[in-house]
Amino acid sequence: MPEESPYANVVLIGFMGSGKTQTGRSLSERLGLRFTDTDALIETRAGKAIRRIFEEDGEEAFRVLERSVILEAAGETGQVIATGGGVPANPDNMVTLKRSGCVVWLQASPESVWERVREGQERPLLAVEDPQGRIRELLRIREPFYAQAHLAVDTSGKSVPEVAGEIIELLRAYHS
Ligand code: S3P
Repeated sequence: MPEESPYANVVLIGFMGSGKTQTGRSLSERLGLRFTDTDALIETRAGKAIRRIFEEDGEEAFRVLERSVILEAAGETGQVIATGGGVPANPDNMVTLKRSGCVVWLQASPESVWERVREGQERPLLAVEDPQGRIRELLRIREPFYAQAHLAVDTSGKSVPEVAGEIIELLRAYHS
C-alpha cells in the first residue's frame, strides 16, 4: 500500500553516483507516484545512449536535449523525477524544476561518488585520466547550484531504503 502523497512532483538532484535513480524508484513506489528518469528520457528521445550523444554530437547538444526533457517532465505532475547530475548547472532548469515540485538534493562526498561510479563506463564526463580529481572539481563547481534545492539529504553510508525514508520524513515536515 503506497504512502499517501500530496506532492505535485518530487525532484531528485545531485552529483553522478549520488543514487538519484535507485532512490527515485524506491521513493516513487512508497509515495504511489510515477517514476521519471530524465537521462532515460533523453536516450529515448535521441534514440541512442548518452555516451554516444556526447561522442557524436558533443556536450552542448546533450545539454540542449536535456533542457527540453526537463521542460517536458516538469510539465506533468504526480512523479518522482530523477535528474542527471549536470541539470542544476543550468539556472533555467532549477527555476523550472522548483516550480514543478519539491526539489531534494542527494548529497554525496567525493569518496562515496567514486566508490559508486568507478566500475561503470557510461559517464562520459569521468572518462578522463584523473576521474577522482574531476569529481572533486565538478562537485566544487556544482555545489552552489545543488544548494538551491528545497531540501537536502546526506546519502553517505546509507542504503537506498534509508535515504528514501529520510526524504519521506523531510517532505512531511516541509509540507506541514
Ligand atoms: C552528467 C550526469 C549523468 C548524465 C550525463 C552528464 C553530469 O547523469 O546526465 O553523463 O553532467 O553530471 P547521472 O548523474 O545520472 O550519472
